[in-house]
Amino acid sequence: MSHDSRSPNNLRPRSKALFEEAVGLMPGGVNSPVRAFASVGGTPVFMKRANGAYLWDEDGNRYIDYITSWGPAIVGHAHPEVLAAINEAAAGGLSFGTPTAGESILAHKIIKAMPAIEMLRLVSSGTEACMSALRVARAFTGRTKILKFEGCYHGHADMLLVKAGSGAATLGLSGSPGVPESTAQHTLTAHFNDVDQLREIFSANRRDIAAVIVEPIIGNAGFIRPLPGYYDVLKGLCEEHGTVLIFDEVMTGFRVAHGGYQSLCGIKPDMTVLGKVIGGGMPVGAYGGRRDIMSMVAPSGPVYQAGTLSGNPVAVASGIKTLEILSRPGAYDTLAARSERLVSGLKSAAEGFGIPFTVDFEGGMFGFFFAKDSVRNFEDAKRANLDNFKKFFQLMLDDGIYLAPSAFEAGFLSLAHSESDIDATLDAARRAFRVIAESPNTQAGR
Ligand SMILES: Cc1ncc(COP(=O)(O)O)c(C=O)c1O
Repeated sequence: MSHDSRSPNNLRPRSKALFEEAVGLMPGGVNSPVRAFASVGGTPVFMKRANGAYLWDEDGNRYIDYITSWGPAIVGHAHPEVLAAINEAAAGGLSFGTPTAGESILAHKIIKAMPAIEMLRLVSSGTEACMSALRVARAFTGRTKILKFEGCYHGHADMLLVKAGSGAATLGLSGSPGVPESTAQHTLTAHFNDVDQLREIFSANRRDIAAVIVEPIIGNAGFIRPLPGYYDVLKGLCEEHGTVLIFDEVMTGFRVAHGGYQSLCGIKPDMTVLGKVIGGGMPVGAYGGRRDIMSMVAPSGPVYQAGTLSGNPVAVASGIKTLEILSRPGAYDTLAARSERLVSGLKSAAEGFGIPFTVDFEGGMFGFFFAKDSVRNFEDAKRANLDNFKKFFQLMLDDGIYLAPSAFEAGFLSLAHSESDIDATLDAARRAFRVIAESPNTQAGR
Protein backbone atom coordinates (compact mmCIF):
# COMPACT_ATOMS: atom_id res chain seq x y z
CA MET A 1 0.00 0.00 0.00
CA SER A 2 1.30 3.44 -0.68
CA HIS A 3 1.01 6.10 1.95
CA ASP A 4 -1.49 8.78 1.02
CA SER A 5 -4.29 10.80 2.54
CA ARG A 6 -7.01 8.22 2.02
CA SER A 7 -8.87 7.38 5.21
CA PRO A 8 -8.51 3.88 6.64
CA ASN A 9 -12.22 3.34 5.99
CA ASN A 10 -11.58 3.82 2.29
CA LEU A 11 -8.52 1.57 2.44
CA ARG A 12 -10.34 -1.15 4.36
CA PRO A 13 -14.12 -0.94 3.80
CA ARG A 14 -14.63 -4.68 4.14
CA SER A 15 -12.75 -4.82 7.45
CA LYS A 16 -14.97 -2.01 8.71
CA ALA A 17 -18.16 -3.83 7.65
CA LEU A 18 -16.96 -7.12 9.13
CA PHE A 19 -16.07 -5.39 12.39
CA GLU A 20 -19.51 -3.77 12.59
CA GLU A 21 -21.04 -7.22 12.24
CA ALA A 22 -18.61 -8.81 14.74
CA VAL A 23 -19.24 -6.30 17.54
CA GLY A 24 -22.81 -7.54 17.77
CA LEU A 25 -21.66 -11.15 17.98
CA MET A 26 -18.51 -11.11 20.14
CA PRO A 27 -17.41 -8.81 22.99
CA GLY A 28 -15.58 -5.91 21.34
CA GLY A 29 -15.88 -7.78 18.04
CA VAL A 30 -12.85 -9.92 18.84
CA ASN A 31 -11.98 -13.25 20.43
CA SER A 32 -8.91 -11.92 22.25
CA PRO A 33 -8.62 -8.32 23.50
CA VAL A 34 -5.15 -7.72 22.04
CA ARG A 35 -6.68 -7.91 18.57
CA ALA A 36 -8.88 -4.88 19.18
CA PHE A 37 -7.56 -1.42 18.38
CA ALA A 38 -8.65 -0.11 21.79
CA SER A 39 -5.54 1.95 22.50
CA VAL A 40 -4.68 3.03 18.96
CA GLY A 41 -8.14 3.90 17.63
CA GLY A 42 -9.83 2.81 14.42
CA THR A 43 -11.15 -0.62 13.57
CA PRO A 44 -9.20 -3.88 13.63
CA VAL A 45 -8.04 -5.20 10.29
CA PHE A 46 -9.66 -8.48 9.30
CA MET A 47 -7.00 -10.68 7.76
CA LYS A 48 -7.86 -13.23 5.12
CA ARG A 49 -4.64 -15.06 4.45
CA ALA A 50 -0.93 -15.09 5.18
CA ASN A 51 2.20 -16.32 3.49
CA GLY A 52 5.85 -15.94 4.48
CA ALA A 53 6.29 -12.48 5.99
CA TYR A 54 3.01 -11.11 4.66
CA LEU A 55 -0.63 -10.79 5.62
CA TRP A 56 -3.44 -9.90 3.24
CA ASP A 57 -6.62 -8.32 4.57
CA GLU A 58 -10.19 -8.84 3.42
CA ASP A 59 -9.84 -5.83 1.11
CA GLY A 60 -6.80 -7.31 -0.62
CA ASN A 61 -4.23 -4.98 1.01
CA ARG A 62 -0.85 -6.56 1.78
CA TYR A 63 1.09 -5.96 5.00
CA ILE A 64 4.57 -6.89 6.20
CA ASP A 65 3.70 -8.70 9.43
CA TYR A 66 5.55 -7.97 12.67
CA ILE A 67 3.12 -9.82 14.91
CA THR A 68 3.53 -13.29 13.37
CA SER A 69 0.38 -14.45 15.19
CA TRP A 70 1.89 -13.01 18.41
CA GLY A 71 4.96 -15.18 18.05
CA PRO A 72 4.20 -18.66 16.70
CA ALA A 73 4.78 -18.02 12.97
CA ILE A 74 8.56 -17.82 13.39
CA VAL A 75 9.43 -19.81 10.25
CA GLY A 76 7.04 -17.67 8.19
CA HIS A 77 3.35 -18.09 7.58
CA ALA A 78 2.14 -21.18 5.72
CA HIS A 79 5.62 -22.68 5.51
CA PRO A 80 5.34 -25.51 2.95
CA GLU A 81 7.12 -28.07 5.17
CA VAL A 82 4.92 -27.26 8.16
CA LEU A 83 1.79 -27.47 6.00
CA ALA A 84 2.92 -30.84 4.62
CA ALA A 85 3.50 -32.17 8.17
CA ILE A 86 0.09 -30.95 9.28
CA ASN A 87 -1.67 -32.40 6.23
CA GLU A 88 0.00 -35.75 6.70
CA ALA A 89 -0.97 -35.86 10.38
CA ALA A 90 -4.54 -34.73 9.68
CA ALA A 91 -4.99 -37.40 7.03
CA GLY A 92 -4.25 -39.97 9.74
CA GLY A 93 -6.96 -38.67 12.06
CA LEU A 94 -7.40 -35.45 13.98
CA SER A 95 -7.34 -36.68 17.57
CA PHE A 96 -7.30 -40.05 19.28
CA GLY A 97 -7.31 -39.30 23.00
CA THR A 98 -4.47 -41.82 23.38
CA PRO A 99 -0.70 -41.38 23.64
CA THR A 100 1.07 -40.94 20.29
CA ALA A 101 4.72 -41.23 19.22
CA GLY A 102 4.78 -37.60 18.10
CA GLU A 103 4.32 -36.35 21.67
CA SER A 104 7.61 -37.96 22.71
CA ILE A 105 9.37 -36.56 19.64
CA LEU A 106 8.24 -33.05 20.54
CA ALA A 107 9.11 -33.60 24.22
CA HIS A 108 12.63 -34.79 23.21
CA LYS A 109 13.21 -31.71 21.08
CA ILE A 110 12.17 -29.39 23.89
CA ILE A 111 14.22 -31.19 26.56
CA LYS A 112 17.28 -31.25 24.29
CA ALA A 113 17.03 -27.49 23.74
CA MET A 114 16.34 -26.69 27.41
CA PRO A 115 18.15 -29.13 29.70
CA ALA A 116 16.58 -27.52 32.80
CA ILE A 117 13.43 -29.30 31.68
CA GLU A 118 13.82 -32.93 32.73
CA MET A 119 10.17 -33.81 32.21
CA LEU A 120 7.23 -31.98 30.71
CA ARG A 121 3.50 -32.08 30.11
CA LEU A 122 1.94 -30.86 26.86
CA VAL A 123 -1.21 -28.74 27.07
CA SER A 124 -3.09 -26.58 24.59
CA SER A 125 -2.26 -22.97 25.50
CA GLY A 126 0.17 -20.78 27.40
CA THR A 127 -2.55 -19.90 29.89
CA GLU A 128 -3.13 -23.55 30.70
CA ALA A 129 0.60 -24.16 31.02
CA CYS A 130 1.22 -21.23 33.43
CA MET A 131 -1.80 -22.07 35.55
CA SER A 132 -0.77 -25.71 35.79
CA ALA A 133 2.88 -24.94 36.57
CA LEU A 134 1.79 -22.79 39.52
CA ARG A 135 -0.52 -25.50 40.83
CA VAL A 136 2.37 -27.96 40.77
CA ALA A 137 4.74 -25.47 42.42
CA ARG A 138 2.21 -24.83 45.18
CA ALA A 139 1.75 -28.54 45.74
CA PHE A 140 5.49 -29.16 45.72
CA THR A 141 6.23 -26.46 48.30
CA GLY A 142 3.01 -26.78 50.31
CA ARG A 143 2.71 -22.98 50.10
CA THR A 144 0.10 -20.64 48.64
CA LYS A 145 1.69 -17.29 47.77
CA ILE A 146 3.10 -16.56 44.34
CA LEU A 147 5.13 -13.60 43.15
CA LYS A 148 4.83 -12.03 39.72
CA PHE A 149 6.09 -8.81 38.16
CA GLU A 150 4.05 -5.80 37.10
CA GLY A 151 3.49 -5.79 33.35
CA CYS A 152 4.20 -9.50 32.92
CA TYR A 153 1.39 -11.50 31.37
CA HIS A 154 1.11 -15.20 32.09
CA GLY A 155 -2.31 -15.93 30.62
CA HIS A 156 -5.67 -15.20 32.14
CA ALA A 157 -5.95 -17.63 35.08
CA ASP A 158 -7.52 -15.87 38.10
CA MET A 159 -4.38 -15.71 40.23
CA LEU A 160 -2.36 -14.22 37.36
CA LEU A 161 -4.68 -11.36 36.43
CA VAL A 162 -3.03 -9.05 38.92
CA LYS A 163 -1.15 -6.08 37.45
CA ALA A 164 -0.87 -8.07 34.24
CA GLY A 165 0.66 -6.96 30.95
CA SER A 166 -0.49 -7.42 27.37
CA GLY A 167 -4.17 -6.60 26.70
CA ALA A 168 -4.81 -5.96 30.40
CA ALA A 169 -2.06 -3.31 30.41
CA THR A 170 -3.24 -1.88 27.10
CA LEU A 171 -6.77 -1.49 28.48
CA GLY A 172 -5.47 -0.15 31.82
CA LEU A 173 -6.96 -3.03 33.82
CA SER A 174 -4.80 -3.78 36.85
CA GLY A 175 -7.10 -6.56 38.01
CA SER A 176 -10.31 -8.13 36.77
CA PRO A 177 -13.82 -8.29 38.17
CA GLY A 178 -14.69 -11.92 38.61
CA VAL A 179 -11.37 -12.74 40.25
CA PRO A 180 -12.21 -13.33 43.93
CA GLU A 181 -10.24 -11.21 46.39
CA SER A 182 -9.53 -14.45 48.21
CA THR A 183 -7.63 -15.60 45.12
CA ALA A 184 -5.87 -12.33 44.22
CA GLN A 185 -4.62 -11.85 47.79
CA HIS A 186 -2.17 -14.71 47.34
CA THR A 187 -0.48 -13.00 44.38
CA LEU A 188 2.35 -10.66 45.35
CA THR A 189 3.66 -8.25 42.74
CA ALA A 190 7.02 -6.57 42.29
CA HIS A 191 8.59 -3.97 40.00
CA PHE A 192 10.81 -5.70 37.47
CA ASN A 193 14.54 -4.94 37.80
CA ASP A 194 14.26 -3.65 41.38
CA VAL A 195 16.64 -5.77 43.48
CA ASP A 196 15.93 -3.99 46.77
CA GLN A 197 12.20 -4.53 46.50
CA LEU A 198 12.75 -8.17 45.66
CA ARG A 199 14.80 -8.67 48.83
CA GLU A 200 12.17 -6.84 50.90
CA ILE A 201 9.36 -9.02 49.54
CA PHE A 202 11.25 -12.21 50.30
CA SER A 203 12.15 -11.10 53.81
CA ALA A 204 8.56 -10.02 54.52
CA ASN A 205 7.25 -13.39 53.30
CA ARG A 206 9.93 -15.69 54.69
CA ARG A 207 9.48 -19.20 53.33
CA ASP A 208 5.88 -18.41 52.30
CA ILE A 209 6.33 -17.92 48.57
CA ALA A 210 5.62 -21.06 46.57
CA ALA A 211 6.82 -19.72 43.23
CA VAL A 212 8.13 -16.71 41.38
CA ILE A 213 6.96 -16.53 37.77
CA VAL A 214 8.66 -14.18 35.34
CA GLU A 215 8.87 -13.53 31.61
CA PRO A 216 12.68 -13.69 31.37
CA ILE A 217 12.58 -10.87 28.82
CA ILE A 218 9.29 -9.06 29.29
CA GLY A 219 7.38 -8.95 26.02
CA ASN A 220 3.95 -8.06 27.33
CA ALA A 221 4.78 -4.52 28.42
CA GLY A 222 6.87 -3.74 25.37
CA PHE A 223 10.34 -5.32 25.22
CA ILE A 224 12.11 -5.05 28.60
CA ARG A 225 15.26 -6.99 29.42
CA PRO A 226 16.65 -7.79 32.88
CA LEU A 227 19.51 -5.67 34.19
CA PRO A 228 22.82 -7.55 34.49
CA GLY A 229 22.85 -9.73 37.61
CA TYR A 230 19.13 -9.35 38.32
CA TYR A 231 18.37 -13.03 37.80
CA ASP A 232 21.39 -14.07 39.87
CA VAL A 233 19.78 -12.29 42.81
CA LEU A 234 16.36 -13.74 42.02
CA LYS A 235 17.72 -17.26 41.69
CA GLY A 236 19.70 -16.85 44.93
CA LEU A 237 16.62 -15.68 46.85
CA CYS A 238 14.54 -18.55 45.45
CA GLU A 239 17.18 -21.08 46.52
CA GLU A 240 17.53 -19.53 49.96
CA HIS A 241 13.79 -19.56 50.57
CA GLY A 242 12.89 -22.85 48.88
CA THR A 243 10.80 -21.04 46.26
CA VAL A 244 10.24 -22.54 42.81
CA LEU A 245 11.61 -20.27 40.07
CA ILE A 246 9.44 -20.42 36.94
CA PHE A 247 10.60 -18.90 33.68
CA ASP A 248 7.57 -18.22 31.51
CA GLU A 249 9.18 -18.67 28.10
CA VAL A 250 5.87 -18.83 26.25
CA MET A 251 7.07 -15.86 24.24
CA THR A 252 10.86 -16.13 24.44
CA GLY A 253 11.17 -19.92 24.13
CA PHE A 254 12.65 -20.93 20.73
CA ARG A 255 12.31 -17.25 19.75
CA VAL A 256 15.19 -15.34 21.33
CA ALA A 257 17.42 -18.43 21.03
CA HIS A 258 16.83 -22.12 20.43
CA GLY A 259 17.24 -22.78 24.17
CA GLY A 260 15.13 -19.77 25.19
CA TYR A 261 16.39 -16.92 27.33
CA GLN A 262 17.60 -19.40 29.93
CA SER A 263 20.30 -20.51 27.49
CA LEU A 264 21.50 -16.91 27.16
CA CYS A 265 21.43 -15.79 30.80
CA GLY A 266 22.87 -18.98 32.26
CA ILE A 267 20.18 -19.29 34.93
CA LYS A 268 18.57 -22.68 35.39
CA PRO A 269 14.93 -22.22 36.36
CA ASP A 270 13.19 -24.95 38.38
CA MET A 271 10.28 -24.89 35.97
CA THR A 272 9.73 -23.54 32.45
CA VAL A 273 6.51 -22.70 30.66
CA LEU A 274 6.25 -22.78 26.87
CA GLY A 275 3.67 -22.08 24.16
CA LYS A 276 3.47 -20.18 20.88
CA VAL A 277 6.50 -21.38 18.79
CA ILE A 278 6.32 -24.98 20.02
CA GLY A 279 3.00 -25.33 18.19
CA GLY A 280 4.15 -23.40 15.10
CA GLY A 281 0.69 -21.82 14.80
CA MET A 282 -1.36 -24.68 16.22
CA PRO A 283 -2.49 -24.79 19.88
CA VAL A 284 0.33 -26.30 21.94
CA GLY A 285 1.63 -25.27 25.36
CA ALA A 286 3.93 -27.08 27.77
CA TYR A 287 5.16 -26.89 31.32
CA GLY A 288 8.10 -28.78 32.65
CA GLY A 289 11.13 -28.70 34.86
CA ARG A 290 12.90 -30.65 37.56
CA ARG A 291 11.95 -34.31 37.67
CA ASP A 292 11.16 -34.21 41.40
CA ILE A 293 8.71 -31.36 40.80
CA MET A 294 7.11 -32.78 37.64
CA SER A 295 6.68 -36.17 39.29
CA MET A 296 3.99 -34.50 41.37
CA VAL A 297 1.70 -34.42 38.30
CA ALA A 298 -1.03 -37.06 37.90
CA PRO A 299 -0.89 -39.93 37.22
CA SER A 300 2.69 -40.03 38.61
CA GLY A 301 1.64 -37.93 41.56
CA PRO A 302 -1.41 -36.34 43.15
CA VAL A 303 -1.61 -32.96 41.33
CA TYR A 304 -4.45 -33.18 38.84
CA GLN A 305 -4.18 -31.66 35.39
CA ALA A 306 -5.64 -33.06 32.17
CA GLY A 307 -6.82 -32.12 28.67
CA THR A 308 -8.98 -33.73 25.97
CA LEU A 309 -6.86 -32.28 23.17
CA SER A 310 -3.48 -32.14 24.98
CA GLY A 311 -0.74 -33.41 22.67
CA ASN A 312 -3.12 -33.34 19.73
CA PRO A 313 -1.36 -35.13 16.84
CA VAL A 314 -1.93 -32.42 14.23
CA ALA A 315 -0.75 -29.63 16.52
CA VAL A 316 2.22 -31.70 17.63
CA ALA A 317 3.21 -32.39 13.99
CA SER A 318 3.20 -28.64 13.36
CA GLY A 319 5.38 -28.05 16.43
CA ILE A 320 7.88 -30.80 15.56
CA LYS A 321 8.40 -29.49 12.03
CA THR A 322 8.69 -25.89 13.23
CA LEU A 323 11.36 -26.80 15.80
CA GLU A 324 13.17 -28.89 13.19
CA ILE A 325 13.34 -25.94 10.79
CA LEU A 326 14.58 -23.74 13.63
CA SER A 327 17.36 -26.19 14.47
CA ARG A 328 18.94 -25.82 11.01
CA PRO A 329 22.28 -23.98 10.96
CA GLY A 330 22.05 -20.22 10.93
CA ALA A 331 18.35 -19.90 11.78
CA TYR A 332 18.86 -17.75 14.87
CA ASP A 333 21.72 -15.79 13.29
CA THR A 334 19.35 -14.88 10.47
CA LEU A 335 16.59 -13.85 12.89
CA ALA A 336 19.01 -11.75 14.93
CA ALA A 337 20.54 -10.11 11.86
CA ARG A 338 17.08 -9.13 10.56
CA SER A 339 16.03 -7.81 13.98
CA GLU A 340 19.24 -5.83 14.28
CA ARG A 341 18.78 -4.30 10.83
CA LEU A 342 15.22 -3.36 11.73
CA VAL A 343 15.79 -1.81 15.16
CA SER A 344 19.01 0.02 14.32
CA GLY A 345 17.33 1.40 11.18
CA LEU A 346 14.31 2.52 13.20
CA LYS A 347 16.51 4.17 15.79
CA SER A 348 18.62 6.12 13.35
CA ALA A 349 15.52 7.14 11.38
CA ALA A 350 13.78 8.44 14.53
CA GLU A 351 16.93 10.23 15.64
CA GLY A 352 17.19 11.81 12.20
CA PHE A 353 13.90 13.54 12.94
CA GLY A 354 14.83 14.39 16.55
CA ILE A 355 12.26 11.96 17.99
CA PRO A 356 13.22 10.29 21.30
CA PHE A 357 13.24 6.55 20.63
CA THR A 358 14.75 3.48 22.31
CA VAL A 359 15.07 0.03 20.76
CA ASP A 360 16.16 -3.45 21.76
CA PHE A 361 16.01 -6.97 20.38
CA GLU A 362 17.06 -10.55 21.08
CA GLY A 363 16.91 -13.18 18.32
CA GLY A 364 13.57 -12.82 16.55
CA MET A 365 11.92 -10.58 19.16
CA PHE A 366 12.23 -6.81 19.33
CA GLY A 367 10.69 -3.72 20.83
CA PHE A 368 10.76 0.04 20.80
CA PHE A 369 9.51 2.87 22.97
CA PHE A 370 9.05 6.52 22.15
CA ALA A 371 11.26 7.39 25.11
CA LYS A 372 14.64 9.05 25.71
CA ASP A 373 15.92 6.69 28.38
CA SER A 374 16.00 2.92 28.39
CA VAL A 375 12.92 1.28 29.90
CA ARG A 376 13.55 -0.96 32.92
CA ASN A 377 10.04 -1.85 34.01
CA PHE A 378 6.35 -1.28 33.41
CA GLU A 379 6.35 2.05 35.28
CA ASP A 380 8.97 3.37 32.84
CA ALA A 381 7.04 1.92 29.90
CA LYS A 382 3.91 3.82 30.88
CA ARG A 383 5.87 7.09 30.84
CA ALA A 384 6.91 6.67 27.19
CA ASN A 385 5.10 8.86 24.65
CA LEU A 386 1.99 6.79 23.89
CA ASP A 387 0.57 9.46 21.62
CA ASN A 388 3.56 9.17 19.29
CA PHE A 389 3.15 5.41 19.32
CA LYS A 390 -0.48 5.72 18.31
CA LYS A 391 0.38 8.00 15.38
CA PHE A 392 3.25 5.77 14.32
CA PHE A 393 1.09 2.66 14.46
CA GLN A 394 -1.64 4.19 12.26
CA LEU A 395 0.78 5.66 9.72
CA MET A 396 2.65 2.36 9.43
CA LEU A 397 -0.59 0.40 9.09
CA ASP A 398 -1.80 2.61 6.27
CA ASP A 399 1.60 2.15 4.66
CA GLY A 400 1.34 -1.65 4.75
CA ILE A 401 3.29 -2.43 7.93
CA TYR A 402 1.46 -4.46 10.55
CA LEU A 403 2.73 -3.77 14.08
CA ALA A 404 1.11 -4.80 17.36
CA PRO A 405 -1.71 -2.34 18.09
CA SER A 406 -0.33 -1.43 21.50
CA ALA A 407 2.76 0.27 22.91
CA PHE A 408 2.86 -2.51 25.51
CA GLU A 409 3.67 -5.42 23.20
CA ALA A 410 6.89 -6.74 21.69
CA GLY A 411 7.36 -7.26 17.94
CA PHE A 412 8.26 -10.48 16.20
CA LEU A 413 9.78 -11.35 12.90
CA SER A 414 10.27 -14.59 11.06
CA LEU A 415 12.79 -16.41 8.89
CA ALA A 416 10.68 -15.29 5.93
CA HIS A 417 11.37 -11.58 6.53
CA SER A 418 13.92 -10.61 3.89
CA GLU A 419 16.34 -7.71 3.98
CA SER A 420 14.19 -5.96 1.39
CA ASP A 421 11.12 -6.40 3.65
CA ILE A 422 13.07 -4.71 6.43
CA ASP A 423 14.23 -1.94 4.11
CA ALA A 424 10.65 -1.35 2.93
CA THR A 425 9.63 -1.15 6.58
CA LEU A 426 12.33 1.42 7.27
CA ASP A 427 11.20 3.52 4.28
CA ALA A 428 7.68 3.50 5.71
CA ALA A 429 9.05 4.37 9.17
CA ARG A 430 10.92 7.37 7.78
CA ARG A 431 7.69 8.63 6.19
CA ALA A 432 5.85 8.12 9.48
CA PHE A 433 8.55 9.80 11.61
CA ARG A 434 8.50 12.81 9.29
CA VAL A 435 4.75 13.22 9.83
CA ILE A 436 5.18 12.82 13.60
CA ALA A 437 8.06 15.31 13.72
CA GLU A 438 6.00 17.84 11.77
CA SER A 439 2.87 17.40 13.87
CA PRO A 440 2.38 20.35 16.24
CA ASN A 441 1.94 18.49 19.53
CA THR A 442 4.82 16.00 19.35
CA GLN A 443 6.17 15.67 22.88
CA ALA A 444 9.25 13.96 24.13
CA GLY A 445 8.78 10.82 26.19
CA ARG A 446 10.47 10.42 29.54
C1 LIG B 1 4.66 -14.81 28.35
C2 LIG B 1 3.28 -15.34 28.10
N1 LIG B 1 2.78 -16.25 28.93
C3 LIG B 1 1.56 -16.79 28.75
C4 LIG B 1 0.76 -16.39 27.70
C5 LIG B 1 -0.59 -17.00 27.50
O1 LIG B 1 -0.57 -17.82 26.39
P1 LIG B 1 -1.93 -18.17 25.60
O2 LIG B 1 -2.37 -16.90 24.95
O3 LIG B 1 -1.51 -19.24 24.64
O4 LIG B 1 -2.91 -18.65 26.61
C6 LIG B 1 1.25 -15.43 26.80
C7 LIG B 1 0.42 -14.97 25.68
O5 LIG B 1 0.69 -14.00 25.03
C8 LIG B 1 2.54 -14.90 27.01
O6 LIG B 1 3.06 -13.98 26.19
